[in-house]
Amino acid sequence: MNAPSPQNTPELHELLAFYMEAGVDEALTEEPVDRFAEAAQIRSPARAASAPEQPSSSPDRRNQSAGAPAFAENNPAAPPPAQRVPAAAAVPDEAQVQLARQLATRASNLDELREAMAGFDGCNLKFTAKSLVFADGNPNAALMLVGEAPGRDEDLEGLPFVGRSGRLLDRMLAAIGLDRTSAYIANVIPWRPPGNRTPTPHETEICRPFIERQIELVNPKVLVNLGGPSAKTLLNTTEGILRLRGNWRAHTTASGAAIPAMPTLHPAYLLRTPAHKRLAWRDFVEVKMKLRSLS
Ligand code: URA
Repeated sequence: MNAPSPQNTPELHELLAFYMEAGVDEALTEEPVDRFAEAAQIRSPARAASAPEQPSSSPDRRNQSAGAPAFAENNPAAPPPAQRVPAAAAVPDEAQVQLARQLATRASNLDELREAMAGFDGCNLKFTAKSLVFADGNPNAALMLVGEAPGRDEDLEGLPFVGRSGRLLDRMLAAIGLDRTSAYIANVIPWRPPGNRTPTPHETEICRPFIERQIELVNPKVLVNLGGPSAKTLLNTTEGILRLRGNWRAHTTASGAAIPAMPTLHPAYLLRTPAHKRLAWRDFVEVKMKLRSLS
């Protein structure tokens, strides 16, 4: 592409519009990264030895030193796996799950858990996100809601459900007489996946011990799973959300306590499918009645 100039800015606008449509809504590094040069370096290290180094502040660098893969899985410029140079001592995912489990178990309160998560480097998502999105609301509330993962607005503010779907969630809570002073809100994944892509099963397994411990420490009377990924992860089921929703299940904590859980439709889905708001409304009325019966 030519360097930006007044002559080619329409082209740049088109390119940016294309990126936005494809879900790319931010630059991840201050400096552009030449992936073709990287690939050439892998194939011919001697020739590339004279190539200029990337600035040390690059998040790519951070990823490598954290044991993250040096190449994105879906990067078309990345060489085939056999040619890839392993990043510094990659830690197997199972070891990261174990470490997450140990850290989560050791946390004896929510502050310690947040601190443990902030210091945990075992999930690649941490290195592309701006914030750890831990929770919002009242940790002493009887109701806890768990979504999937933060989006752009949540990443910028460091709080869950503050974007469009968060505003709908606030209205859903208001419909049963609650707000963020009487409910506690978190996500299965506390770091925004780049471009809001779906978290991989590995990422979910690595983050699972943290959200499970968070639920155990909050110990709500009722849990609401917002959307399929939250329901599947925390209720250990593979059933789809349209089948699951509206029926009471239980979330079992590590200590064996069973917390009544209501799977319901995710607010982002409801924004796309408003005809289903009536289903979510029914689920929230169920939640209200359950809270009343348990108070
Ligand atoms: N969607 C989620 O699942 N969680 C958020 O925090 C925001 C959007």
